[in-house]
Parts: sequence; structure tokens; C-alpha cells
Amino acid sequence: MSEKMAWSQLIRDVPDFPKPGIIFKDITPLLADGEAFSAVIEEMAALVDGRVDAIVGIESRGFIFGAALAQRLGLGLVTVRKPGKLPADVHAVEYELEYGVDRLEIHRDALAPGHRVVIVDDLLATGGTAAATVKLIEMLGAEVVSCLFVIELDFLEGRKALAGTAVASLLHF
Ligand code: PRP
Ligand code: MG
Repeated sequence: MSEKMAWSQLIRDVPDFPKPGIIFKDITPLLADGEAFSAVIEEMAALVDGRVDAIVGIESRGFIFGAALAQRLGLGLVTVRKPGKLPADVHAVEYELEYGVDRLEIHRDALAPGHRVVIVDDLLATGGTAAATVKLIEMLGAEVVSCLFVIELDFLEGRKALAGTAVASLLHF
């Protein structure tokens, strides 16, 4: 069995979560397996190319992969957080959900103009979360080298929301 086959089989489908009709991709069995988690981080590391100054992780599941990847590459981690969690001055971007809006924040001093970053999250669905994160990074004058995801739900066409940004995902459904 290839390494990818091995770790991808540890992503579990949970029907009707968080609501009826949704099949949730549960990564917790993958995280609980040391070899599988390492294999995922190695695959992500192989996709990081050229000069990168920091990894940006998106709360909360993006922190898991983002922190591990940053450590693997010897880079720092910048956290993009849900509202009201960051203590110092922030920039905020609101984005549309199926019902209502949500907001993500970044510290204003987290990055400087010219810094080059890779954004990491577990999942690309509609792309709203990642697109808001790209906006936050651009508000700081920094540059997004690429967005990296473990899983991409192709049928939701999240890449369209990230037009103009390089996108790579390890696994497609
Ligand atoms: C999930 C997932 C991505 C986002 C993808 O996060 O972890 O961050 O949704 O969806 P989108 O492409 O449609 O924006 P969620 O907000 O559920 O929170 P969590 O990471 O804290 O579990
Ligand atoms: Mg998330």
C-alpha cells in the first residue's frame, strides 16, 4: 500500500454532521496515528518551494497541520484566529457562511511588507475561510506564496474563491 493510501484511509466519513445531509471528513483518526500524521506533514513540506518566511495557520484545524509544518521547516507560525481571541491590535475580515457571516483576525504586527507566507488549513470547501485569510495577509503588505490543504472538496469549487493564488491539496474528494 502506498503511503498516501495508508493515511487517506484514516480519514473517516461521519454522516449527518454537523447537520443532516452533510458527510463530515473526520481527520482525528489520522492525527492519532504517528506515522500517518508524519507522512502528511512530509507531503506538505515537499510542496513548499522557494523563499518562505512564515507559515500561516487558520484556527483551529489549520493550527494542527500549520504548527507541525512550521516546525518541520524551521519556520515560525502566524495564527489567524476567530473573533476576539487575539489580544493586541488586529485587522479583521468578514466572510459569508451558508447562513450569516463569520470573521477572522490577524495581529497587525504579525507580518511585515514583503514577507512571503504559505497558508495552511485542513480542508478547502467553499474557500471562504482561505480567501478571508489571503485578504488579511495582503492587508499587512505580505505575499501569499501558496495555500496548502490536506483535503479539497472539488465539487464546492473553493479554488474559484482563491483565483490568483497558488493552491495545492494532498487529497481530493
Ligand atoms: C472548517 C475547515 C476549514 C473551513 C473550510 O473550519 O477546518 O477551515 O471549514 O470551509 P470553507 O472553505 O467553506 O471556508 P471550521 O470553521 O468548521 O472550524 P474549525 O477548523 O475550528 O473546526
Ligand atoms: Mg477550520
